[in-house]
Amino acid sequence: MMIIASNWKMNLDRLSAEQLLAEMGSCPVSDKVSRIVFPSFTLIDLARTTRDHIGQTVHITLGGQDCHDAASGAHTGDVSAAMLVEAGCQWVLVGHSERRQNHMEHSEKVAAKTKAAQAEGLSVMLCVGENLEERESGKAEATVTAMLAASLPQQVDADKLAIAYEPLWAIGTGMTATPSDVAAMHQAIHNYLKDLGLKDVPVLYGGSVNPDNASALLALEQVDGVLVGGASLDADSINAITLAAEN
Ligand code: 13P
Repeated sequence: MMIIASNWKMNLDRLSAEQLLAEMGSCPVSDKVSRIVFPSFTLIDLARTTRDHIGQTVHITLGGQDCHDAASGAHTGDVSAAMLVEAGCQWVLVGHSERRQNHMEHSEKVAAKTKAAQAEGLSVMLCVGENLEERESGKAEATVTAMLAASLPQQVDADKLAIAYEPLWAIGTGMTATPSDVAAMHQAIHNYLKDLGLKDVPVLYGGSVNPDNASALLALEQVDGVLVGGASLDADSINAITLAAEN
């Protein structure tokens, strides 16, 4: 099973989101491919209605881009995992580098969010990645496995978990990690998860994925899918990436 995940980040208005989903719905997918869309909170309900109108067979599930680790309470501006479930989400992204950097979210917080989300029945897509300095000094794998170790709660449900490896220097830059670097990092992540007894956890790559580089990345046996930012906002691009996963 290949996962093609769209992280819309803080983009799209209602009309463009609706049109994009409708065009994604016109791209045929087999059972081999699962699509996940992470809209902004205010677009989740519209995305669900539009998806249901197209039909469940389009294999598009929805996720929130973040959640709070508390079940409820005085947390102005935050959204709980239960709220995402009620809105129709099956997934949540946690630990995205933009949250870690812009909202000072440390791995311990990411672990708490992962626990809270799984407790509500959500599947978690947990993001990890190294910065350029860590990559250039040969510390990429050590950084990512340490980040992963600190971001996983004590008890984690492997059946409701995916890891997204997103090197920071590749996000929104047009620079993509080479297939051999991606394969090596994904292998390290798979090995680490296996050592913890976490089996069959998909590991996705993210960072400037586009229709030109998707096939080479998806062809790697260590890669179980891609998490797409910029290119997921364009129907032709995300459909081309989806079709690359079919082949
Ligand atoms: P880009 O595909 O725009 O580089 O974004 C990647 C990303 O951050 C997905 O979560």
